Amino acid sequence: MKDIKILAIETSCDETAASVVQNGNKVLSNVVISQIESHKRFGGVVPEVASRHHVELITIVIEEAMQEANLKPEDLDAVAVTYGPGLIGALLVGLNAAKAYAFAHDLPLIPVHHIAGHIYANQLERKLQFPLVALIVSGGHTELIKMNEHLDFTVLGETRDDAVGEAYDKVARVLGLPYPGGPEIDRLAKEGEDTYKFPRAYLDKDSYDFSFSGLKSAVINTLHNERQKNNPINEKDVSRSFQESVIDVLTEKTLDAIISEDVKDLIVAGGVAANSGLRGRFETLSEKHGFNLYIPALKYCTDNAAMIGAVAYELYLKKHFADLDLNGQNYIDI
Ligand code: KG4
Ligand code: ZN
Repeated sequence: MKDIKILAIETSCDETAASVVQNGNKVLSNVVISQIESHKRFGGVVPEVASRHHVELITIVIEEAMQEANLKPEDLDAVAVTYGPGLIGALLVGLNAAKAYAFAHDLPLIPVHHIAGHIYANQLERKLQFPLVALIVSGGHTELIKMNEHLDFTVLGETRDDAVGEAYDKVARVLGLPYPGGPEIDRLAKEGEDTYKFPRAYLDKDSYDFSFSGLKSAVINTLHNERQKNNPINEKDVSRSFQESVIDVLTEKTLDAIISEDVKDLIVAGGVAANSGLRGRFETLSEKHGFNLYIPALKYCTDNAAMIGAVAYELYLKKHFADLDLNGQNYIDI
């Protein structure tokens, strides 16, 4: 069969990204421009600022991705794009660029769900084996998903309020740490102890849903109270205590899902998958309970377009194409 080359575009949050992927697993180019520096001074991603940057950068990343892959538009078989979930203004920039490219070069347009992309990032390194459970943890998402075969997604659980990464970033902000706060808290936590014993939200028994806003408020209230009383704050212990609470809940629920769904493969992805404490705990659990743990390389864990190209190949094989009136959506419906 002829090689299928897909140009993929991703603009759901604050990374402007384009990539060319061959047959869903060979990355011919992977261009990502992060806007983190622009959002740093606001302490988080500002949607309107993100959209404006995407507008400035989108044609640049597409051209770079095509140059790096050494291809012309006529060498492509399709254009894929993230249609959601994400910041709606940001999504629309990628969508319109993809539609224009597809229309101009008479290529099919493939709509890709962002969370599917995070799961399929693994496919860039190894073939997915089914059934599997995937835990997607990032600044915008906390999702526990089961897959029985390609493109078959069942959401087992998700956050009812804040995403994990969002909780990390907000706690970090109150601790006076720079954005994004996840890596900073991870660093401090290594030298701290779980002395504060913050709450763990397991919600109803048997539920795979998550909740992190109570934990976030508990940490922030503790910090405010201690400051009011002029008590010293041990930032390392606060970081460690917060992180232990997050890890306990994420790993226990995921392990429950692996056992009750009788699954052998676990995929962890999204920016928070970079967390050293979370990785360490999952590694220990995988040895103890005999499941396989797959965490893609960091460049494929955080937002990128190659992961969108990986899903797009499977959709291409099924001829799952969109019309040019494809719209963005900012809710999760995988
Ligand atoms: O996947 P990502 O790059 O972007 C999206 O949100 O889609 O994830 C970014 C999130 C941020 O909230 C950041 O604080 C968090 O991932 N993060 C971490 C670590 N590195 C990044 N959280 C905990 N520990 C880390 N080492
Ligand atoms: Zn993401």
